[in-house]
Amino acid sequence: MQQAAKRTSDMPVNPDHTIDQDWEGYTAAEHARWDALFQRQSGLLPGRACDAFVTAMNTLTLSDSGIPHFGRLSDRLERLTGWRVVAVPGLVPDAVFFDHLANRRFPAGAFIRAADQMDYIEEPDVFHDVFGHVPLLANPVFADYMQAYGNGGLRADGLGVLHHLARLYWYTVEFGLVKSDDGLRIFGAGIVSSATETIFALDDPSPNRVGFDLVRLLRTNYRIDDFQQTYFVIESFERLLEDTAQDFGPIYQRIGRLDDLDPPDLLPEDVVLARGTQAYFTEKVA
Ligand code: PHE
Ligand code: FE
Repeated sequence: MQQAAKRTSDMPVNPDHTIDQDWEGYTAAEHARWDALFQRQSGLLPGRACDAFVTAMNTLTLSDSGIPHFGRLSDRLERLTGWRVVAVPGLVPDAVFFDHLANRRFPAGAFIRAADQMDYIEEPDVFHDVFGHVPLLANPVFADYMQAYGNGGLRADGLGVLHHLARLYWYTVEFGLVKSDDGLRIFGAGIVSSATETIFALDDPSPNRVGFDLVRLLRTNYRIDDFQQTYFVIESFERLLEDTAQDFGPIYQRIGRLDDLDPPDLLPEDVVLARGTQAYFTEKVA
């Protein structure tokens, strides 16, 4: 992660783990990398990402002159939902991350991926964090969900059950699908910021696509190194916010006594929208 190193070594980190974005410090090549990534994804997403994402991607102006300036972007976003984007050097401690969310601040990596990482990057860079996450923060319902998740994260951390709650973030905020009148749409940031997973998540016969069920999901492990073996499909952001508003205390107790599920597992009670062949994964292993 050379880029991150360049931006962190000489840059003071504040107590809340934020840094100055140093927008003037990006090179022309770095801005050009954003533009290329933006071009590719903004071409792919209409008809594949949910309407709220595509609309906000345009109204927030994520493509004026290369990598967005966090301060100016935050001013536009704050007028819509009260959220701001703050720069961080990379991943921050869980409690710090949740505290930012609970206060309607989204921590975004300031560095951009290297030229040979255009298709895949493990650590979230500015393209994943800003292009992937920020558009839905302009949606009032999703904006409330993210803040609620921050508060829920602080609580789960204290209860020692963060591994369960983290799955909710993973399977919704990062890799969620949502129903629409015209079929399934993607909204998770990990998908919408990836050209290959945009196609895979919707069209590939390999993964399962299962209706969202909170308890079932909180029991399900996930893989961080490849496409997902199961995607969960929500009805709407409104329903997601409603389903997660309940007290998770009793749920954490209940699932503490149940076995975890593996990513490709299906249960008899699952609402299976598409039963995956898992061919992508079995071929890889072979
Ligand atoms: N309702 C959850 C709790 O009681 C908090 C939460 C809300 C978690 C929304 C995630 C998303 O802990
Ligand atoms: Fe992310």
